[in-house]
Amino acid sequence: MRVVPAVAPIALALSLLSVGPAPAAEKPNVHIVATGGTIAGAQADVEQHGYTAGTFTVDSLIQAVPELKDIAAVTGEQLVNIPSQDMNDDVWLKLAKRLNELLADPKVDGIVVTHGTDTLEETSYFTQLTVAGDKPVVFTGSMRPATAISADGPMNLYNSVAVAGNPAARGYGSLVVLNDEIHAARDVYKTHTTSVDTFRSPEHGLVGRVDTGHPTLFGPPPPRGATYDVGALTALPQVEIIYAHSNMGRTLIDAAIAAGAKGLIVAGVGNGNMTKVAIDTLAEVAKTGVVVVRSTKLAEGTVVRNAEVDDDKLGFVVSDDFKPGKARALLQLALTRTSDPVEIQKIFDSH
Ligand code: DGL
Repeated sequence: MRVVPAVAPIALALSLLSVGPAPAAEKPNVHIVATGGTIAGAQADVEQHGYTAGTFTVDSLIQAVPELKDIAAVTGEQLVNIPSQDMNDDVWLKLAKRLNELLADPKVDGIVVTHGTDTLEETSYFTQLTVAGDKPVVFTGSMRPATAISADGPMNLYNSVAVAGNPAARGYGSLVVLNDEIHAARDVYKTHTTSVDTFRSPEHGLVGRVDTGHPTLFGPPPPRGATYDVGALTALPQVEIIYAHSNMGRTLIDAAIAAGAKGLIVAGVGNGNMTKVAIDTLAEVAKTGVVVVRSTKLAEGTVVRNAEVDDDKLGFVVSDDFKPGKARALLQLALTRTSDPVEIQKIFDSH
């Protein structure tokens, strides 16, 4: 039992008047950059018919989760308001430049980017490659519109702000937080069309979990690789992805080259494979200075160099365990430095 020493009533009264809540621990300053997506989406009915992404603004997202103010000093801005299937290189560059500007401010402790889930894995990795420093950049979205029964967006946003404001999340590069899980932008992919647990990191696993605003980060952070300065860029090199399949011909390869592609990513069958016609065509293309990267359409696994395909002889690059969308982002940035396939292979192997 706690014993209170006897004190004069007036002194006691005065001391009680001065007793207030302990000064709140300094809350982190977390800034939200909204880009649209389902987290800001609305539907016409419970079946999600007539669903529209990017309906609500960042202010609505913040107002919908009043508990945010308990864990951080939150500010926000609307960069764009689009469904992420419409994400493009111009927005990528605008976002990367804005994130670098925001994170250079010592008053900003971390950033949350709200984004559609369809290309979230690509944009988040692009920012990992282009945003300087080690402050947390956390991407989040939702699989159910804001107007849905049991919408997942509010908790995803709350957890993302908690991670972005937590010093333990520094140095992990860009992170992806949905469904109580923390993924590295380098490794995570969307794996299911509708399920709330759609984001998986099959090769490397989670880097943490977050339980109602309480993050736990597992160490060590994944490899970060170089940071590419996009400050002076107004466009990115054109890189196209070509999906391999039985009976694959040269039509789409030729079309991509005719359209000006400087790099091609092949979403290969198996271990980055494709028909002989496609291999021979790509070998021709590689000789002209276009960089060819063998990736795979499979969910897991690393594309092995010089296995069934003689990459050394043909001048190809292999994508390590990067799947096509991430390999495209990395190749675009690599091409701002070199078009030498040997150097570009070193870049893929070091990220
Ligand atoms: N409309 C798609 C997008 O904006 C999917 C919805 C979502 O999950 O955000 O990515």
